[in-house]
Amino acid sequence: MRTSVLPPALAVLVLVAAMWVPAWADDTAKADADAQNIFNSTCGWCHQGGGRVAGGIGPKLMATDKSDDFIVNRVKNGKEGRMPAFGASLSDAQIQALLRYIRNLKPES
Ligand code: HEC
Repeated sequence: MRTSVLPPALAVLVLVAAMWVPAWADDTAKADADAQNIFNSTCGWCHQGGGRVAGGIGPKLMATDKSDDFIVNRVKNGKEGRMPAFGASLSDAQIQALLRYIRNLKPES
């Protein structure tokens, strides 16, 4: 009978979700912390104030009007003579985390 099969199946599903979601949230938190470190060590000497301010070699990134695609593409491929390409040294996940870092930038108080 269907009704007797469904509740156990649902219970398993809930259990799997309960185990999976915290692990996934942890990964995201870790990736975000990594992105901050990568930014500070790799990007910050050109993009000043953690990307918050203009006046460095690279432009201010906070509140950029560029699209996600543009940002990912710029980080992967750089800009000849101006910004190095990071597509070989950073993973897609790291670049996505850097994108989130840039999107979440707020003025320092
Ligand atoms: C050697 C200096 C330098 C480094 C290191 C550097 N950038 Fe850049 N970045 C630039 C310059 C210069 C530009 C402007 C390029 C142009 O003329 O379009 C730029 C542009 C960008 C843009 C596009 C912004 C816009 O509005 O056009 C993003 C996003 C960006 N950089 C992110 C990063 C990230 C993330 C890193 C580290 C992984 C990084 N940059 C490392 C110099 C640098």
